[in-house]
Amino acid sequence: MARILVTGGAGYIGSHTVYFLRKRGHSVVVVDNLSRGDRANVPEGILRVVDLRDTARITSILKEERCEAVIHFAAYISVGESTKAPELYFANNVGGSSSLFEAMQQAGVNKLVFSSTAAAYGNPPRVPITEDQPIAPINPYGDSKVMVERMIELLDRYRGFRSIRLRYFNACGAEPEAGLGERHDPETHLIPLVLRAVLTGEPVTVFGEDYDTPDGTCIRDYIHVSDLAEAHIKAVEHLLYNGADAVFNVGTGLGHSVREVLSAVETVSGRKVPYVSGPRREGDPPRLVADSQKLQRTLAWKPVRADLERIIADAWQFARKLGT
Ligand SMILES: NC(=O)c1ccc[n+]([C@@H]2O[C@H](COP(=O)([O-])OP(=O)(O)OC[C@H]3O[C@@H](n4cnc5c(N)ncnc54)[C@H](O)[C@@H]3O)[C@@H](O)[C@H]2O)c1
Repeated sequence: MARILVTGGAGYIGSHTVYFLRKRGHSVVVVDNLSRGDRANVPEGILRVVDLRDTARITSILKEERCEAVIHFAAYISVGESTKAPELYFANNVGGSSSLFEAMQQAGVNKLVFSSTAAAYGNPPRVPITEDQPIAPINPYGDSKVMVERMIELLDRYRGFRSIRLRYFNACGAEPEAGLGERHDPETHLIPLVLRAVLTGEPVTVFGEDYDTPDGTCIRDYIHVSDLAEAHIKAVEHLLYNGADAVFNVGTGLGHSVREVLSAVETVSGRKVPYVSGPRREGDPPRLVADSQKLQRTLAWKPVRADLERIIADAWQFARKLGT
């Protein structure tokens, strides 16, 4: 079993991945500056509160902890915020990654799993989306991720890095038994917003009901965070056993509309979802669904929690615990 550094491990997807890595027997060190994460998401003793841009400290952590690989989640993730302040996204997502890569180089660590995103494809010409579709992000958040992907390709080529880039679709769900779930601040993701509406009575806004989809609302590929965590474990183990560099989509291949999500929440919670209709949001493509055959074939990964009601039941259990 390996010693793995997880950046952003106090955040939503990172904390679930840390939980499953440890369950599998790997030893983990988390680096997070807690700008958006929560200390309570990380088991006692393994968190180092450090900003990724502190290259010297990241280098010494990698050396002192004898890390063999890095899983890199740490980033800002809000599309809306990135359109208002793109420079934040360049400084944190691109600058933070560049500093991390320099530290890895200095510490002699070359195995890397990177959190990329479906936002890399922008408004894709074909759905389901395969990895060879054009890279055409339509907001600074997506661009920041694409810039880091490009840096990684160059480091693979010129610096002997060995990397896997995972482009995930809509992460969702929770691992309530482990006390883990989704609570971004501010929250911008659909499922936690709908659950919050049910719990508080404050209506959630449905942005656009006139898309060219069967019920007029946007369709997305909802991937359970624990299935996503398993994909990271497969990816890092693949690198540790000398597998090749690659880029993979991570999704279920199933598309669900906003209306379907609302109705699944009503089924799971037994309550009506209060909602209001709003205009389309700029840059929201009608349909984003992954083709993740490549990941399934190469790493023998399978989404086993893909059922929408199952996803929502886990998220609901976590949201009720939080009470918001
Ligand atoms: N949530 C999704 O649906 C989704 C979809 C596609 C890709 N992603 C990617 O997955 C990753 C994790 O997303 P998440 O939803 O868990 O986000 P999150 O905000 O919950 O977690 C990110 C973590 O990174 C930390 N962080 C940010 N900047 C840092 C820095 N400079 N130094 C140290 N720590 C820093 C934050 O404190 C936080 O704990 C991100 O890279 C995101 O782009 C997320």
